[in-house]
Amino acid sequence: MKIVHTVEEMQAIRRTLSGSIGFVPTMGALHNGHIALIKQARNENDIVIVSVFVNPTQFLKGEDLEKYPKKIESDSKICELCKVDYLFMPQTPTMYSNDEVLVKAPNLKSYTLEGERRPGHFDGVLQVVLKLFNLVRPSNAYFGKKDAQQLVLIQQMVRNFFLPITVIACDIVRESDGLALSSRNVYLSEEQRKEALAISKSLRSAAEHIGAKMLDCQTLKIQMQNIMKNLDIEYIAFVNREFQEIDTIILGNSIILIAVKVGSTRLIDNIWI
Ligand code: PAJ
Repeated sequence: MKIVHTVEEMQAIRRTLSGSIGFVPTMGALHNGHIALIKQARNENDIVIVSVFVNPTQFLKGEDLEKYPKKIESDSKICELCKVDYLFMPQTPTMYSNDEVLVKAPNLKSYTLEGERRPGHFDGVLQVVLKLFNLVRPSNAYFGKKDAQQLVLIQQMVRNFFLPITVIACDIVRESDGLALSSRNVYLSEEQRKEALAISKSLRSAAEHIGAKMLDCQTLKIQMQNIMKNLDIEYIAFVNREFQEIDTIILGNSIILIAVKVGSTRLIDNIWI
């Protein structure tokens, strides 16, 4: 595995590559969720490129940019073990200049839910992903359903800008007790981690009710609120795959999303129905 530190080096290497290229963009502190994406990329492509870059433009003022976990050594080890070909770890100044052409996420999908709580967040995500796509020029790019809104927006960017890239949506990886893996889980105390289990429990319960033909979102929401009654719920949302709110579950075209705060840590989770 080769570690690539600069944009110029990445571009030079890319010019020498042929065959299918699988790309997994990350912000590092790699866990089994990321590893599942990398393994799938490895299975489906001739070459695998992973990026680790904590992108400043997607953090709002007061968010955890400075304390976002950094684990360069273990990230490199993990990538090496997963047989990644190139690990791209650029420094911020090589990725950004002072006065940049900006990317604006579409209003309808990006200023609800996560975008409403984190205005501008998705502009920054799309900006960096577009830069990374142009540097890596992947055939296939792997994203987790864990960040559902991000995934749907990236799919739209690829369509809107006619990018010749296939976006592969990967299932959410969970701990055996149901907690969705996240780099931010390290902020949780043992007690908070236990409390956070109510999130996935409420999603499982909703899925069971839906399996029993209970499709009314308001009823499902009340049941979920009940399971998460000890948590500080930011939202429980029912949307279709275009992120429009729905009142009734449409099988095959619905997502139930949750954002909660456990202590000062914000956690998101969802289930695709
Ligand atoms: P990061 O949070 O590091 O996530 C990188 C990728 O891993 C994303 O596609 C995310 O959805 C996926 N992922 C995280 N936890 C997962 C889990 N438990 N199961 C499955 N997939 C999971 O998302 C970002 O970084 C950034 O916004 C990025 C796209 C890299 C742009 O900066």
